[in-house]
Amino acid sequence: MKGLILSGGKGTRLRPLTFTSAKQLIPLANKPVLFRVIQAIRDAGIKEIGIVIAPETGAEIKSVVGDGSRWDARITYILQDEPRGLAHAVKISRDFLGDSRFVMFLGDNCIEGGIHRLIEQYAASDYNSQIVLTRVADPRQYGVAVLRPDGSIDRLVEKPKDPPSDLALVGVYMFDRHVFEAVEAIQPSWRNELEITDAIQWLVTHGYRVYPYVHTGWWVDTGKREDMLEANALVLEELVPRCEGEVDAHSVVDSRVTLERGARIVNSVVRGPTIIGENAQIINSYVGPFTSIDRDCVIENAEIERSIVLEGCRIEHIPARIHDSLIGRRSVITHAAAKPSGYRLLLGDYSQAGLL
Ligand code: G1P
Repeated sequence: MKGLILSGGKGTRLRPLTFTSAKQLIPLANKPVLFRVIQAIRDAGIKEIGIVIAPETGAEIKSVVGDGSRWDARITYILQDEPRGLAHAVKISRDFLGDSRFVMFLGDNCIEGGIHRLIEQYAASDYNSQIVLTRVADPRQYGVAVLRPDGSIDRLVEKPKDPPSDLALVGVYMFDRHVFEAVEAIQPSWRNELEITDAIQWLVTHGYRVYPYVHTGWWVDTGKREDMLEANALVLEELVPRCEGEVDAHSVVDSRVTLERGARIVNSVVRGPTIIGENAQIINSYVGPFTSIDRDCVIENAEIERSIVLEGCRIEHIPARIHDSLIGRRSVITHAAAKPSGYRLLLGDYSQAGLL
C-alpha cells in the first residue's frame, strides 16, 4: 500500500499564522500536525508516501519534511496548482499511486491511536474502498454517511443542513484503483471543487464495495484556533513525560511535564500536561495545564495556560493570565509601562486579540 497526504489549502481560519506558514506545520506538543500524520502512516508499515502541496506553502513543507528519511520512508511531492478539491488531489496523484491500494489522510487531521488497525482490516478485505467514520455531536460541518443494514455505505452527503445520521467522515480514506474512474466521472460541486464525497458516492452507485471503519477514539480536524487548542490538549495527554531540562530548587514542576533539552525552569510553577521546548526559559512564572511552549521562548513574570506558543516568543511582565491563545513565532508580548497607559498593539492582518 501507499500513503497520500493532502497538505494544501490556504488555512484562512488560522490567519495570520497561515500568512507565513502552512497550517499543517502548526505544532501540537511542539511537533507539526503533519509529522503525526506521517508517523501514523509509517507506523502502519507504509513507506511510500506522496504529499500533495500548494504553491504558496509547498516549499516550506518540503524543507521541513524533507525526503522522508527521518521516518525511514520515501516522500514524493505532488503540486496542486489550486485548491480544486480532495478528489482533484487524487486525480493528479495517479502517476505516483499507480495501481496500488492506498490510504489518503488529510494533513491537518489528528486522530487518536494511529491507523494501523484500519489499514490491516482494509488490507485483509476485498473492499474497493473503506472510509473512516466517527459519531459527532454536530455533523453539519462534515461529510455524513448513511449505512445499509449489512453495514456497507448506502449514501454520503457533504455538509448537510439536515444530517441524515451522526456519522461524520473523518479525513482518512482507503481506496483501490477504481477511485480513478470515480474522480474522472464526477463534476465540480457548488464550491467548484471535486469532492471526495462525490467520488465515494460514485463508487457506491456503480456497485463497488465501500465499507466504513467506525473510529471510537478522539479525532480533531484542526482548522480553527479552538480545534488546535483542543488537539494540543489531547496530544499532550498522550505524551510520556521526560525531563531533559533543568528545574531550580524554587520551582514546582509536576510529573506530567516534559522538558526538552536545555529548557530551564526558574522560580516557577509548571503544571502538566505541558511541554517546554528546547532552550526555553520559564522565569518567575506560572505555566498551566495543556500548554505547549516551543523552543527558544522566554516566559518571565507571566502566567499562561491552555495555549500554544510557537518558537522564539518573549512573554514578559504581564499582569493578567494568558489563556486559550495561539501565539505565532517570535512574537513579543510585554507590559507597556510608558504613558499613556493602555494597550499598544502591532498585529498582523486578520489577527485576533481578546483584551480586558
Ligand atoms: C473534508 C471532507 C469532509 C470531511 C472533512 C474531515 O471537508 O470534504 O467530508 O468530513 O474533510 O475533516 P473540508 O475540510 O474540505 O471542508
